[in-house]
Amino acid sequence: MPNYDVTNLKLAPAGKKRIEWADNDMPVLKEIRKKWKKTKPLKGIKTSSCMHVTCETANLMITLKAGGADVLLCASNPLSTQDDVAASLVKDYGIKVYARKGENKKIYFKHLESAIKHQPEITMDDGADLLSLLHTKYQKQAFKIKGSMEETTTGVIRLKALEQAGKLMVPIIAVNDARTKNLFDNRYGTGQSTLDGIIRATDILLAGKTVVVAGYGWCSRGFAMRARGMGSNVVVTEVDSIKALEAAMDGFRVMKMSEAAPIGDLFCTLTGDIHVVDIHHFKKMKDGAIVCNSGHFDVELNIKGLKKIAKKVRKEVRNFTDEYTLANGRRIFVLADGRLINLAAAEGHPASVMDMSFSTQALAAEDINRNYKKLQNKVYYVSEKIEEWIAKAKLKSMGITIDTLTSEQKKYLASWEIGT
Ligand code: ADE
Repeated sequence: MPNYDVTNLKLAPAGKKRIEWADNDMPVLKEIRKKWKKTKPLKGIKTSSCMHVTCETANLMITLKAGGADVLLCASNPLSTQDDVAASLVKDYGIKVYARKGENKKIYFKHLESAIKHQPEITMDDGADLLSLLHTKYQKQAFKIKGSMEETTTGVIRLKALEQAGKLMVPIIAVNDARTKNLFDNRYGTGQSTLDGIIRATDILLAGKTVVVAGYGWCSRGFAMRARGMGSNVVVTEVDSIKALEAAMDGFRVMKMSEAAPIGDLFCTLTGDIHVVDIHHFKKMKDGAIVCNSGHFDVELNIKGLKKIAKKVRKEVRNFTDEYTLANGRRIFVLADGRLINLAAAEGHPASVMDMSFSTQALAAEDINRNYKKLQNKVYYVSEKIEEWIAKAKLKSMGITIDTLTSEQKKYLASWEIGT
């Protein structure tokens, strides 16, 4: 059996070019890789990563390998794999890859099982599917894991729930919760790539459109901000009073989804929750409304419900676009089957933000390998030391220098005596 399963190895040359292009915009990861080639901090360590198979992830895998690891990568979403990248990782970089764009659920889980059979000591997840399987069907293997990293908000929520239930079997580093990750990747990465996915799928003009954004976390904020920048009238829906207040004071109209449903031209969910756009919302929408999701799982839009109330469904009226006609004659266009629009119809976040997220992943892996004996089965934050190093390295790569505190200022900040 070959130790890979990809769509077509002949796509490798195109993938290699794109991996190298992304690398140009990942200077921090490149610096880590250069150092690791000499120091080999992951020498002989088996790693299994369940992540979106993109050119940016490819550069992370190449870095782990440069650090001495025996690297396996499988897809964290059936639609996000870039087949050319998967092929190049196998052919040009000797990395074990199990991912095919459009793979069905059975193959998706078969690929996860291959990642477990690799017998990893360190794992990385984007959405916690790999760790979830390790906590159910493959518990014996879970005991052998030194530690694991989680890349996304949804995954951290799942793992914290496991910890709360007292069932977490592996120490976790919540890479998602690092400021060097979520302030940039979640906000600017999701903001840009979500718009990119919508535009590639539909080619609509955003100026003058009413865009309804569900949620006001980092990802939704980024998207709302960018949609406004394109001239859309942005409406935000929320369930959290403080976030709703923030959205209102950031200048967005805030209302319930049931009020937004009849006025929206484009709807995008980024909440991490289920059925945020439900049957009663679909029924109220205008003819031609476009609906998509940029949250991790395909549960935010109730598409099964929409199928039930539709009198006609036309698949792929355009790439990644399905048309549902309701009994009232109105048409609703659903993008990418309700899966992550930014990774399904576009290429995910640009390399420059993934540089920080994946540098954090790499340094967290090194940290786990060095300190695993001290770790408990808990969800940990990324250390301040790692965050500081990454922020400084990124600023340096951007040619930005900043002030430092004078000794007078340090003394002032540490004192309580000087007031009015
Ligand atoms: N998540 C969002 N964008 C991504 C990208 N470009 N690569 C990997 N994971 C991602």
